[in-house]
Amino acid sequence: MNRKVTVVGGAGNVGATVARSIAEMELADVVIVDIADQKAAGVALDMLETCPIVGSDSLLVGGSDYAHSANSDVVVITSGVPRKPGMSRDDLLNVNFNIMKAVTEQVVKYSPNCIIVPVANPLDAMCQAVLKLSGFPRERVIGMAGVLDSARMRAFIAAELNVSVENVHAFVLGGHGDTMVPLPRYSTVAGIPITELLDKATIDRISARTAGGGLEITQLVGTSAWYAPGASVVEMVEAILLDKKKIVPCSVFLQGEYGVDGVFVGVPVKLGARGIEQIVQIKLMPEEEAAFKKSAAAVKELAGVIGV
Ligand code: NAI
Ligand code: 2OP
Repeated sequence: MNRKVTVVGGAGNVGATVARSIAEMELADVVIVDIADQKAAGVALDMLETCPIVGSDSLLVGGSDYAHSANSDVVVITSGVPRKPGMSRDDLLNVNFNIMKAVTEQVVKYSPNCIIVPVANPLDAMCQAVLKLSGFPRERVIGMAGVLDSARMRAFIAAELNVSVENVHAFVLGGHGDTMVPLPRYSTVAGIPITELLDKATIDRISARTAGGGLEITQLVGTSAWYAPGASVVEMVEAILLDKKKIVPCSVFLQGEYGVDGVFVGVPVKLGARGIEQIVQIKLMPEEEAAFKKSAAAVKELAGVIGV
């Protein structure tokens, strides 16, 4: 194929989910890079052997060497330690920052023109590290979190109202942590804001469950989620590869938008072939704006700990 996506950390749970979907959707050839060299080779081979069954001509290869990744269009970074029950995303800061250092250098060396989609946690701080380490323009470093958090909220709204998930849109902005900001006013069912359909107590319950969505899975499974995170990454990669101009919430480096400067935080963006093609500014009510700024400040503090 004439498109290539590399998944660093692709032998792990989230990365393998991403690699498999991209290949099965025939979006691109896929390179799995992972320090678990043999596992990466085996996972890629297993997926390649799936392709005849699903009718995909995507090619897959895996290993610890970045050479195969050369000139990737998109590089997804899922290499990182996931949290265990009792850990917060922030507990992963230093260990995953060291992984970002090793990985980003290789990504830039082999694919200087790629778009990077960081996934490792704590997400917004890791994005900030990758942006700084890569020297890329902000349009080409786009963190995955808002699609996932919004998908969780959509699932909970659909279940509450017993409607198709296809009718439900939701926006969760802010950092990917305890301070994330679900926005009920901008969350709709067939275009109707949920504030018209649900009482405040129910909306508050859905918002709280959304903010704790990652923890809920971690407590059930014993490690963090991968199916919904993987699908969320693929929605972003598809929008970029197919130049869809799709508006989705992503973690991006704000430079004055929303009154926030010099920090990664989740906002609606238009995704296309150039990466971030527009940061969409929506009006926030005073209490929404206060929650958003509090979330941005939490990210800034965390990024400050690792000096990025
Ligand atoms: P995992 O442990 O299953 O996979 C991580 C993979 O990274 C492993 O295969 C490991 O060998 C590899 N790896 C570690 N260091 C590496 C290096 N220096 N170079 C190349 N590969 C390396 O973990 P999982 O569940 O896939 O999660 C990955 C990360 O994504 C975690 O930090 C997790 O917290 C984060 N995450 C973020 C989400 C988000 O919404 N942004 C959602 C879900 C997970
Ligand atoms: C999640 O929200 C752990 O960030 C990951 O599932």
